[in-house]
Parts: sequence; structure tokens; C-alpha cells
Amino acid sequence: MSLQRVTAFAPSNIALTKYWGKRDHTLNLPLASSISVTLSELGSLTVCAPEPGLSHDVMAVDDRPLDDAGMIKVRRVLGIIREMAGSDVHAGLNSINTVPTARGLASSASAFAALAMAASHAYGLDLDKATLSRLARTGSGSASRSIHGGFVQWECGQKADGSDSEARQLFAADHWPLTILVAQVRDGKKKVSSTSGMRMAASDSLTFRGWIEQCEKDVIACQAALAAKDMERLADVVEGNAMAMHGTMMASRPPLLYWQPATVGVIHTVRNLRAEGTACCFTIDAGSSVVVLVEPSDAGPVAEALAAIDGVETVLQTRVGEGARLVPERG
Ligand code: PMV
Repeated sequence: MSLQRVTAFAPSNIALTKYWGKRDHTLNLPLASSISVTLSELGSLTVCAPEPGLSHDVMAVDDRPLDDAGMIKVRRVLGIIREMAGSDVHAGLNSINTVPTARGLASSASAFAALAMAASHAYGLDLDKATLSRLARTGSGSASRSIHGGFVQWECGQKADGSDSEARQLFAADHWPLTILVAQVRDGKKKVSSTSGMRMAASDSLTFRGWIEQCEKDVIACQAALAAKDMERLADVVEGNAMAMHGTMMASRPPLLYWQPATVGVIHTVRNLRAEGTACCFTIDAGSSVVVLVEPSDAGPVAEALAAIDGVETVLQTRVGEGARLVPERG
């Protein structure tokens, strides 16, 4: 077994049809499949260095020690890797988010995909993408999708051990080179984590069962809209799915409301732009920021319209990107 220092980059991804509900909370197994688009440039750059002298794993994120809740998940992923590699050596890890100020971008997705990629190679393993995807999933469900580039589907799977719950690429990034805008909206108070939100929805939401049934239908409709590169059909399914997820959140007890007034402002702006003929659509994760997909030729005016909305702090612009990859060590 060869141990070495390895760096990997993994991108963020944005779900087009969402993962919101788990059938297993330890293994992060979803109740329904989901589809995402992988972002270019925005993500996590992670270094993993196994060090025989260390008594436990240590990790810093953006130059600060990772909190206990985060460390539990990191150790879970590292534990699986060590078992596969037959090693008991601990590691030092350092991760930088390439958009530190970004809100509304799932940093846990890129973080655990980068961790799975860097750490598996650091412990001398050369895993295929399906295995890396399952490994990343055990840290954060949505991380399973950040292993792949382009448009990606995470299969919910049926097995209790999660061995069939992994992501695969539906279409490469160049299939439909859309521009992705992130309208960042200031959050009013401390965010409820996706893990607690999903628990609340499953135990209390009035609409939860219908939501999960709708997800499987939306996955099929989304595949078809992506295959046809049809923005009208994509908007139908992507906006409908995001609204349904937030409806489920709002119907949870206690109700979960991530939106701010500017969130609603962006929703109306995007719908008006589309009614006037601009090919674009929006989606919203577990936060107040809104992600907008748009044909590159219309990106400029759409970004301007979003930036003009009261309460929108910044509008980030990116595109569909490649999946997780190793980064050569310098020197
Ligand atoms: O992977 P988690 O636990 O961060 O959950 C992600 C939840 C959503 O971002 C709201 C939806 C999704 O599919 O990414």
C-alpha cells in the first residue's frame, strides 16, 4: 500500500429534480432519484495527506478547523477508504471552497466529492466513478452527483446497503452548454441544515408522500427535456419540482421557509422573462438564493435583470462543467 499526498477538485452541482427525503439517514440513501447539472469552476479543492504520526484525522475548511458534525461525516468516508486500503493511518486534510462567499451553492456536495477523490488516491486506491459516487454519497447525498460532469442522475436504488445507489452521467457538459446564474440573496437567520429539514419533512409534512411520488415522474420528464434541449419543457419540470419541494418544506411542522422577499422577486422576474420569449428557468435549493439556467446568448440581459432586484446581493455566472478530478501536485 502506497500512501501519498493528493489534491483533488470537485465541482458543485445544482439539482434540477431534487433529493429531499432519505430512506436511510446513516448511508444517505434517498427515497427518490434526482437529476443535477454540474457547475464549472465553483467547488472545493481538497488536499489529503496520510501521516503515520497522527493520532486522529484533522481537517481545515477555508483555513478553519472543521466542526464536530462535519468531522463525523469526514471520518465516516475516511473509515471506508482505510478499510478498503487495509490501512490504519490517519490523515490531515485541507479544503478550500473556490467561491468562499457563495450562498445557495451546496458546498457539501463538492466537499465530499473532492474528499472521496483525494483520499481514495492518497491511500493508493484507484476506484471507478460508480464506487467514488457511492463513497461521496456517504458524506453528503448530493455529493454522489459531483463526481460526474454535465447532466447527472443519482439512482435512488433499492438495496438496504446502498450498493445500487450511485450517480451516472446522462449527458456530457457539451450536450447543452447553458449558462448558469446564481442570484445570491441574503439569508435572514441561521439556516436549517438539509439533514434536519429532510427529517422534519418526512415526519411532519402533509404533502411528503405526494412529493416523493412526483419526483420519480419528474426525473423521467427531466431526462426527456434535457435530451431534446427544450427549455420550455425543462422549465416546466425544474420549476415545478423546486416549487413542490419548497411546498413540502412549508407544509412541514414546524414550517420550513427558506425564501426571502428577493427570492420571490427572482421567481417572478424569471417567469416574466420567459413569458416575453427569453429561454430561461429557475431552481432553488435549501436556501434563499436562486439558480437560473439560461441560453448563453440571453445570459447578459437576464443577469442584469436579476442584479436589479432589491435584495439580490450578487449574481455569479458560470456554465455546465466537468466532474471531480485530480490536480497535479506542484513542485
Ligand atoms: O446532500 P445534502 O444533504 O446537502 O442535501 C441536498 C439537498 C438539496 O440541495 C436541497 C437538494 C439536492 O438534490 O441537492
